[in-house]
Amino acid sequence: MDQNEIKALTGKSAVEQLVKSGMKLGLGTGSTALPAVRHLGLLLKEGKLSGIKAVSTSFQTSMECEKWGIPLYTLNSGEINGQLDLTIDGADEIDERHWCTKGGGGALLVEKITAYASSAFCVVVDESKLVKNLGLTFPVPLEVIPEARRTVTLALEKLGARVTLREALRKAGPVITEHGNLLLDLAFDGPADCAALETEFNRIPGVVENGFFTRIRPVVFVGRSNGSVEVKQ
Ligand code: 5RP
Repeated sequence: MDQNEIKALTGKSAVEQLVKSGMKLGLGTGSTALPAVRHLGLLLKEGKLSGIKAVSTSFQTSMECEKWGIPLYTLNSGEINGQLDLTIDGADEIDERHWCTKGGGGALLVEKITAYASSAFCVVVDESKLVKNLGLTFPVPLEVIPEARRTVTLALEKLGARVTLREALRKAGPVITEHGNLLLDLAFDGPADCAALETEFNRIPGVVENGFFTRIRPVVFVGRSNGSVEVKQ
């Protein structure tokens, strides 16, 4: 199986096993979360699920929901009232404690708000995302308001991070997030105290949010190259 097939199978499997009619759902971003969105759309179209109220984490996901007619709300809408039953999302890395890093697709801010507002969180990944220590292979993203780019960079370096401003690929200059901010990608030379840093980073003036997710323990669906999907509770 190629990686796209594995991702599709993993996202689909999470929806099949966890989503029930009437749920208030957070829908994540990226190439593993999108197949979950598509499968949800299919089950709604076939009448196998109904009464779903969804909250999207990005433009990418909203557009996919629009394509499939998935009913979209905001976290502030009366129907959702700031509380979700379940969020399904991808991750850039996940460790044995089920702590993860997110934000490779730049959507970490709403992804974190949504995950932390959910009674249950499900992370869908292929096996390449399983790591012993977060932040050693894939950088940890952090969203910062543009005015604080340098001050935040200096503060992060003092905390032991190597900091790179994320550059856009088909636009001159940096990536601008959906909330008009910049992204800094952080690398670490050794295992980081992720739980402490998740809190510490957000204390720096100008930091909007960071990509460590340590305060919620997700169920993890791991897609493997042999076509199996392991569920880690
Ligand atoms: C977007 C994310 C994604 O969930 C994460 O980057 C994983 O993406 P993919 O499933 O495409 O590898 O956090 O901000």
